[in-house]
Amino acid sequence: MKVAIVGMGYWGPNLLRNLVALVGPDSVVVVDNSLDRIAAVIPQYPAVGYCLSLDQALEDDEVGAVMVATPVSSHAGLVHQALDAGRHVLVEKPLAGSVDEALGLVACAEERGLVLMVGHTFLFSPRVERMTEYLHEGRLGTVQYATSSRLNLGLHQRDVGVIWDLAPHDFSILFHLLGEFPVSAKTSGRSVVRAGCLDVAFVNLSFASGIVASVDVSWLAPRKTRSTVLVGDRQMMVYDDLNNEEPVKIYDKGVVVPDPENFGEHQLTYRHGDVQAPYIAPREPLAQELTHFLACIDGTEICRSDGRFGLHVVEALEAAERSWHEGGRAVAVETAVPVAGEVGFTRSPLAS
Ligand SMILES: NC(=O)c1ccc[n+]([C@@H]2O[C@H](COP(=O)([O-])OP(=O)(O)OC[C@H]3O[C@@H](n4cnc5c(N)ncnc54)[C@H](O)[C@@H]3O)[C@@H](O)[C@H]2O)c1
Repeated sequence: MKVAIVGMGYWGPNLLRNLVALVGPDSVVVVDNSLDRIAAVIPQYPAVGYCLSLDQALEDDEVGAVMVATPVSSHAGLVHQALDAGRHVLVEKPLAGSVDEALGLVACAEERGLVLMVGHTFLFSPRVERMTEYLHEGRLGTVQYATSSRLNLGLHQRDVGVIWDLAPHDFSILFHLLGEFPVSAKTSGRSVVRAGCLDVAFVNLSFASGIVASVDVSWLAPRKTRSTVLVGDRQMMVYDDLNNEEPVKIYDKGVVVPDPENFGEHQLTYRHGDVQAPYIAPREPLAQELTHFLACIDGTEICRSDGRFGLHVVEALEAAERSWHEGGRAVAVETAVPVAGEVGFTRSPLAS
């Protein structure tokens, strides 16, 4: 089977490098409607095929899967085209530019029995995998709240604001770690560089379990930040993706609440215990992601970031942006529920 990669801009060449390493150059076709972009990558991979449109690539019956790494506004059209032609799809985050588009794609893939995977790369990071293990082991106890920050100067996208560009990473990490999706989103932010397009946003998410999360994303920050913090009633965990020595740390810290009957006689005490930083062998998340995609096509693995997961991320993104448009009021995150016995969804707010 050959795999076509559509989009050879900033991110596509990373998919290309990893895919060639996995399946060999003869099984890869690159697609970009800019000849300059094709010309920029082909000299490095002379055995890779190339086309100027997805139409052309789909004419080749050997192409069994398509990866889409084009701007968000083009995802729905290209993914639909590939699914309608019976091809499995890995689409870069976010799945689509709206919930309606995302719902259509998930229904289309499920109807045809095709793999639809979303490139939520961090779910394939050994660091996030280690954090997931710790959470499943109950090391943190009950999670109380989380914060996540993704800040830097740029890169501004042409077709979407900072929420749709950066928050898919934080949302996917949090939803995966917490094992639940938010019930409401409340956002403040500013569009500074281009009118109507957010450069900085502060999103507050609430979950049915009572967990609250604050996600800060910005293209207008003096320093690069990539961090997620989870606070449990037993321990606390910090993930700093820029710290290659100790990216994940567990803090044995907390508050000891006295017996309520004796509350008047005791003061709260603060527990300051050890800090652990496990060794986590480095592995490129994108290589894991592509290996997983191929295994999902073979039917040997169950998709970790399938269309439904991607749809939940889009639901939260849309609610977060709507909240900003509506002056920062809390907006319920409506969720798609499969209609029993048929392919399709209805949408309703999650009970909080
Ligand atoms: N997973 C990650 O960590 C990560 C990182 C960066 C970007 N991304 C995602 O990757 C996607 C692409 O982002 P980018 O920054 O590389 O964009 P980009 O603008 O740099 O590149 C997009 C490329 O797609 C081509 N293109 C656009 N429409 C096309 C079409 N209809 N047919 C063929 N080619 C077409 C353009 O010519 C361009 O070369 C986005 O969805 C983005 O969110 C993911």
